[in-house]
Amino acid sequence: MSTLFQWIHVTAAVVGVGGIAFAIFCLIPAARALAPAQREALFKNSFDRFRWIIWSVILLLIVSGIYNTHLVWQAPWGIYWKLLTIKIILAFAVFFILLLVTVPLKFLAVFRRHMDVWFSIAFGMSVAIILIAAYLRRG
Ligand code: HEM
Repeated sequence: MSTLFQWIHVTAAVVGVGGIAFAIFCLIPAARALAPAQREALFKNSFDRFRWIIWSVILLLIVSGIYNTHLVWQAPWGIYWKLLTIKIILAFAVFFILLLVTVPLKFLAVFRRHMDVWFSIAFGMSVAIILIAAYLRRG
């Protein structure tokens, strides 16, 4: 069971962080070369799909993350728990940013207009989360 949840956690992280990296480094820069109408259509079509991937990834990371936390619950208080707490707070901050950019509500349009900036912040924080996760595992 723990292997299943570890697999779900890592796969969701890979798909989510990889998708964000693709958007920042490939899709958004490439779209800048298009005419405004084409760019709009490309963003609309790709993000109508991408938002469902991001929402699924968030759900899977939370469910598998809670299961992972229950597995390590007995760990003594110390550096491990401090880093794990920072990792989880960072993760929820990333989820919050991603929801601001992907939830298609009118008053959130200001975040969508600067999605390259918000995705870059979320990407940087995710890379830090993965570094913490590597340390937690390997010590
Ligand atoms: C952006 C979100 C997240 C990313 C990118 C992420 C990534 C990772 C990665 C790569 C691992 C290492 C897995 C392994 O070594 O096999 C991990 C472990 C873990 N994650 Fe997450 N995670 C995220 C969110 C969360 C959340 C929301 C929770 C808790 C609710 C959580 C709890 C844990 C726990 C307890 C571990 C095990 C640590 C250990 O090896 O001792 N994660 N995470």
